[in-house]
This record gives sequence, C-alpha cells and structure tokens, in this order.
Amino acid sequence: MKILVTGGLGFIGSHTVVELQNEGFEVVIIDDLSNTTEAVLDGIVAITGKKPSYEKLDLKEKSKVKDFFKRHRDIDGVIHFAASKAVGESVEKPLLYYENNLNTLVYLLQELSLKNRVGFIFSSSCTVYGQADKLPITEGAAVKEAESPYGNTKQIGEEIIRDTCKVYPGIQAISLRYFNPIGAHPSAAIGELPIGVPQNLVPFITQTGAGLRKELSVFGDDYPTVDGTCIRDYIHVVDLAKAHVVGLQRLLNGKNEGNYEVFNVGTGKGSSVLEVIQSFDRVSGKQLPYKIVERRQGDVIQAYADTTKANTVLGWKAKSTLDQAMKSAWDWEKKIRGLQ
Ligand code: WQD
Repeated sequence: MKILVTGGLGFIGSHTVVELQNEGFEVVIIDDLSNTTEAVLDGIVAITGKKPSYEKLDLKEKSKVKDFFKRHRDIDGVIHFAASKAVGESVEKPLLYYENNLNTLVYLLQELSLKNRVGFIFSSSCTVYGQADKLPITEGAAVKEAESPYGNTKQIGEEIIRDTCKVYPGIQAISLRYFNPIGAHPSAAIGELPIGVPQNLVPFITQTGAGLRKELSVFGDDYPTVDGTCIRDYIHVVDLAKAHVVGLQRLLNGKNEGNYEVFNVGTGKGSSVLEVIQSFDRVSGKQLPYKIVERRQGDVIQAYADTTKANTVLGWKAKSTLDQAMKSAWDWEKKIRGLQ
C-alpha cells in the first residue's frame, strides 16, 4: 500500500512516516521545506533503514498537485500534515494562513475525488474547541468561535472534508484532533526543529535547559487551576504518530463507520505549566529558571481529552507518560546542541 504524507518532513509528519514504514507501508513525502529541512530524511532512514521517496512541492500550486497525482495513480491513502501552524503568526497574516491551509486542502481533495477509494487523514486540533465548557473534552463538545485564523483553518478544513465526503463516497476520511504533541523519537534521530524563538512550551523549556534561552516566562499563574497555571494534555509525538497509522488502517480495511469520523488524540491527562517544568527538572536533574509574567492572549485555561472514543472505537491508546515524553524532548535537544 502506497501512502502520500504531505508535510512528511515536519515534526509530526516525520514521526508518522517512521511508524508507517514500520508497518510496511510504502511512503511518498511531499514537503515545501517552508518549516523544515531535507536532512530530516536522513533521520528517518537512520531509524527505519528505508528511504521514503520525497518531492519538494508547494501544494498551493494547483497544477503541480494535479501533475503529482497523474504521476502517482496508485496512492491508497493520504495523511495531510502540510499547513502553517503558528497561532500568533496567523493573527498577523490571516490571508497567508487561509491560502496555505485551505486552498491546498481543496486542491488535494479535488484529486482524491477522482479516485474510486482512498483513505484520508486530516491533521486537526483541539484548538477547535476553544475553552470547552466541560472537561475532559469529548468529540461531541461544541466547536467554538476560533481564537485565531490558524484555529479557524482547522475548523473550516474539517467542514470542507465533511461536505466533500457527503458527495464523494470514495473518500474515506478521519480528522484527528491533536492535543499538545511533545517529545521526539527515542532514537533522537528526529524531533522538533522550531525555527526562531519557540512559541510552544516544551521546546522553549528544553532550549532554556540547553542554555539557549535565559529563562522560561510562564504566561500567568492566576488561573482557576490547581496551581494557577494553564492545563494541557501533552502527548508523546510517537503515540500521536501511531494514532495516524491506526486511523489509516481503519480506513483501508473498511472498518470505519460512515466515510467521515473525528477522534480526539490525547493522553486524557491534564498537566499544568508548573507540572511540566517539574517534569523537566526530574528528567534532566536541573532546575529550570523561570519567571511568572502576564497571561498570553488567547490561551484557554484547561484543555485535555476524553479519549474514550479513540480507545474504544479507534482502538488506540497513548502509552507514554509526561516524564517519558519530556525525557525524549530533552535527549533530542542535547543531541542537536552537541551536549552530553
Ligand atoms: C502550552 C501552555 C501557555 C510557552 C498550541 C497551539 C495549538 C496546538 C497545540 C497545533 C500554555 C504556556 C507556553 C511559553 C508558557 N498546536 N506557555 N510559556 O497554546 O496549548 O497550543 O499547541 O495544533 O493550536 O496553539 O501550546 O505550548 O504554546 O502552550 O507559559 O513560553 O504553556 O500559556 O498554557 P498551546 P503552547
């Protein structure tokens, strides 16, 4: 079975390519290298010994997308990661996000609509829930007004897929709503490569631990939570990658119910910012320097998954603990910075 992975040289994409290869799938990667480097291919090969084929391609170029599918008529499934994902940047550059995250999705689906049967996994996000009214968050929770154009592209993306699946029964689709992916492959051959100052918590923590940053700014400790800091569901990126393979196998084996399903992909456990810092201190043996600053605009107070549907219907469950995920993140940081 041949699987196209768009954005397959990215953080979650590269980890998913490894798990696909481990399951015997043939993988074709498309990536425009806007947020990664081709060197990630070497990391994938170092882990699996198999080099996936790779094409540098910008999915915004409709003719190039058409041409790709003319040359690859035997694609059985697509896992679509390619998108811009920086919340703050999306507020400043909304049209770049709507073009890059939605035009590309439409061009992909136009090609898939021509096929008799194809599996399609969409990279969505818990951000669609905003601040959920009830915790843990189930798939039935209300999709709220997006806090950012980035979040809106995930909401609109899901609606585009849902409407397309109603008309094209050959497209069998799943949206995976990620919570907070962290960590790196245990081999430390691939991991997160944030460009510039990390916006996300864990890469900022590990860069601070590595001495690249002076200290972590904790965005507020006056929230109504166990210790005043925000709570999230931090999931090991390898657990998340495996959820994509399980979802794809569900579609390719015709086990799905209807041709569009949605699953929350998290651990089901919420951790506060201070608890994440304590995890880093435990796994690194260091004391992370941090200071409390004002809240970050747009942050929800708490978000963690109800994983019942993923566990019982999808048949997938996250295995790694926060400390295991944090250790993998720290091992990766030390590797890329040449630290012991
Ligand atoms: C986590 C917590 C911050 C940095 C993001 C995206 C979301 C999804 C998951 C893609 C928050 C706090 C952070 C820092 C801090 N990504 N924090 N100091 O915001 O939950 O979600 O990743 O789908 O779309 O928005 O993740 O890692 O930015 O923040 O105190 O320097 O850490 O306030 O409470 P977030 P995050």
